[in-house]
Amino acid sequence: MAGFVVILGGFWGLCILSVALLKWNEVRYRKKGLPPGTMGWPLFGETTEFLKQGPAFMKNQRSRFGSIFKSHILGCPTIVSMDPELNRYILVNEAKGLVPGYPQSMLDILGKCNIAAVHGSAHKYMRGALLSLISPTMIKDQLLPKIDDFMRSHLSDWDSKIIDIQEKTKEMAFLSSFRQIASTEASSVSEAFMPEFFKLVLGTLSLPINIPSTNYHRGFQARQNITCWLRRLVEERRASGEKQRDMLGLLVGGENKYKLSDEEMIDLIITILYSGYETVSTTSMMAVKYLHDHPKVLEELRKEHMAIRERKNPEDSIDYEDYRSMRFTRAVIYETSRLATIVNGVLRKTTTDMEINGYLIPKGWRIYVYTREVNYDPCLYPDPYTFNPWRWLGKGLENQHHFLIFGGGTRQCPGKELGLAEISTFLHYFVTRYRWEEVEGNKLMKFPRVEAPNGLRIRVSAP
Ligand code: HEM
Repeated sequence: MAGFVVILGGFWGLCILSVALLKWNEVRYRKKGLPPGTMGWPLFGETTEFLKQGPAFMKNQRSRFGSIFKSHILGCPTIVSMDPELNRYILVNEAKGLVPGYPQSMLDILGKCNIAAVHGSAHKYMRGALLSLISPTMIKDQLLPKIDDFMRSHLSDWDSKIIDIQEKTKEMAFLSSFRQIASTEASSVSEAFMPEFFKLVLGTLSLPINIPSTNYHRGFQARQNITCWLRRLVEERRASGEKQRDMLGLLVGGENKYKLSDEEMIDLIITILYSGYETVSTTSMMAVKYLHDHPKVLEELRKEHMAIRERKNPEDSIDYEDYRSMRFTRAVIYETSRLATIVNGVLRKTTTDMEINGYLIPKGWRIYVYTREVNYDPCLYPDPYTFNPWRWLGKGLENQHHFLIFGGGTRQCPGKELGLAEISTFLHYFVTRYRWEEVEGNKLMKFPRVEAPNGLRIRVSAP
């Protein structure tokens, strides 16, 4: 009996303490002028609910507080905006003090010169340097031939095999970028480089706790190894004096009008590898999934790619004209990005106290520009949960201002065309060479950014 009373007392004590802590945290943030919302637990806020429930958490809070609300997620007090007009305003007004607000672990591991860490003129310069490497002319003359060559070999021996498509598309996104960056060294270095890069990616998505065995610690060490390799590569290139036709060649050789220090060059290379990695791999994997589930779409896509092959000899590569002619493929990629919402939103932070939509947002608060809901708006996309690539044909949907799959404003994705070229070339060789059926992996895996099939495995065969 006495034991029961102690347990009951302890339980009540815990309940009272929890309520007091929650209340205290609410009161702490009850500043005048802030939007409505809940702040959760001291320190952790509502991070657990946010990570566990994903989009359902956002929907629930919106139904309680409206499309602009406050919360405390990923270690920071945050305003979530699900309001399309306000989202647009935030994206185009970086100059008013609405700068990128990515987590500390990401900034530490990607380096202080990475594009998300720099603002104003420094951002303009780094972005210019990046655009000079991935401009349409560069894609046409240098990058597409490399992408084509890589995809052919990456997809050369899938016949009669069971393929883990998630794993393969991840390797594809990394190795294809690495070839574009350092063509000559890619085959010898990438085997050792790839596991380190994967550790780096995990580290950027973790809490910044620097003790052995944390993902942050491993990610940080991986960054050190990667920068060490890249520094050596830069020095070897400089010492050899040879002109190489790849991104590193352009950066190290004196011809580019953008002159970067070694540190800036290394951070830019890490940015290119990182930014195109999860986006390109997840879109490619989800396209395979949707194509499998929608045979009519697959048939139309295959028709487009077979027509390209018929104009060519079997060993001819895809050129820029072929890529530009892939109208239906582009529509398939947009529809995949829309329906799977590859990027749920982007993060900003305030550099001064400011008034937005009648609310007073304190300096240093994060703003989560949540763009996911727009993708399922039935006024913009009738029957929004249906996979229908035809909706993208001929209506200029990609030029409308609610199209935020690649972000918007001054930070709009500079790698859009490169990403599309990579995914299109992958799909070209995949659908012209193979047929496939799913053998495993229909369960959905949820993580903050996208809902994806976990370990989707397919049995591949020649047509
Ligand atoms: C399907 C593929 C892709 C999608 C859906 C995508 C999406 C996005 C989005 C939504 C942003 C805006 C981030 C923000 O506002 O904070 C962004 C920015 C960026 N993307 Fe992409 N991206 C893709 C492919 C690529 C590729 C292949 C590269 C390689 C160079 C790349 C490089 C970047 C960079 C460097 C930024 C930051 C730009 C800046 O801060 O000025 N992206 N991307």
